[in-house]
Amino acid sequence: MNICMIGTGYVGLVTGTCFAELGNKVICVDNDPRKIGLLKKGEMPIYEPGLEELVHKNVKAGRLSFSMSIADAIKTADFAFIAVGTPPRSDGSADLSYVENVSREIAQNLKKYLVIVEKSTVPVETCEWVKKTVSKYNRKKIPFDVVSNPEFLREGTAVTDFLKPDRVIVGLESDRAKKSVQKLYGPLKCPILFTDTKSAEIIKHASNSFLATKISYINSVAKICEKVGANVEQVAEGMGFDPRIGRSFLNAGCGFGGFCFPKDLEAFLWISKKLGADFEMLEAVKKVNEEQIIHFVHKIEEALWIINGKTVGILGLAFKPNTDDMRFAPSIDIIRMLQERGAKIQAYDPISMPNAKKVLQNVALKDSVYDVAKGADCLVIVTEWPQFRKIDLGKIKKLLSHPTIIDGRNLFLPENMKKLGFHYSSIGRKSV
Ligand code: UDX
Repeated sequence: MNICMIGTGYVGLVTGTCFAELGNKVICVDNDPRKIGLLKKGEMPIYEPGLEELVHKNVKAGRLSFSMSIADAIKTADFAFIAVGTPPRSDGSADLSYVENVSREIAQNLKKYLVIVEKSTVPVETCEWVKKTVSKYNRKKIPFDVVSNPEFLREGTAVTDFLKPDRVIVGLESDRAKKSVQKLYGPLKCPILFTDTKSAEIIKHASNSFLATKISYINSVAKICEKVGANVEQVAEGMGFDPRIGRSFLNAGCGFGGFCFPKDLEAFLWISKKLGADFEMLEAVKKVNEEQIIHFVHKIEEALWIINGKTVGILGLAFKPNTDDMRFAPSIDIIRMLQERGAKIQAYDPISMPNAKKVLQNVALKDSVYDVAKGADCLVIVTEWPQFRKIDLGKIKKLLSHPTIIDGRNLFLPENMKKLGFHYSSIGRKSV
């Protein structure tokens, strides 16, 4: 089938490339000449494991190409996916102007029946607005359908998440669109849930907010564990055996970040308020997350007593491992709070340092974990990159001015750290 994928961010580029991998002919469109220029040269505008190889393979096979023109790309398309940004406005609502622009441009260039798929994370009822907008500018009255197909891709594992999904959610209104969508997603051999468009949109809001709730829940439990000397890892394991709860997303830490959870939480709160159906629980989820970051900085303060003038080494800057994404990364707030207290910061991240440079000030970015430890008064772990678990702790101990590690992702066992002679403080476990 022919697909026009509009927007080459994390969602659009991964989705478009994976559809090409499934044998479709895909044109990825973006109005950013820099991104299209890079992609045409075979370079990736983002870091996502496995994506670059898949892009090269499908470009070579003639199934994937890049363009700046929606008009050209939808000429032969069976589907037009809208995967453009919906950035947050200051009141928490999503800015839908890119979605509106693209809908209008699709309408003005319609040549034949088209299934328009809303893929961007959008507030409930956006599909209806897309439909109204396309109808308004579709002067030749070409038939079309608008479908809501929310994405559930996690950065860092987005390619696998696409190719092996738990489920595909499709909100639609017509049998004609349903047949096309079944054909498109059929090769993935996964459950496809067809719903009305508003339910599909709410599934996205509700899923991300629920996952964020799980994290804030376990972070609140972690605080109780700290008070009584229990171990949150064991508590999560015990809870996770119950299939009604499940172990995933019960990792206590120094707070969640990224471009999805904080933004989607705000957007769902904003919508619920607008609809007069206040979702107070989500206010608490947000507050717990904000406080968790402050709580983590207090742990650093407890370990150092006076932060002013001390050198703090930060390990991990990206909002999670296997991504270069710094958007709403907890590291940004943690570093800001430490700097406000007079700390000198040196930091290392395996992938995100070029992006980190753009958002962090007065941070000495180092070439390795060991360079960060050198001369630091303590080491602070913010992102759980798998390679950090394998660091030579003996070497780290010698390089640090004081053998102190404050671990925001519970990478090590407190008893081992004690044996190695560290002062080690983590989340929801006894400090040693
Ligand atoms: C999320 C959703 O998981 C995905 O389905 C959706 O489509 C996009 O948003 P992503 O933002 O890539 O994906 O990251 P995710 O793996 O969900 O992690 C989000 C944040 O939560 C990270 O900062 C992570 O460190 C934190 N987290 C996650 C925890 O603190 N504890 C956990 O147990 C899991």
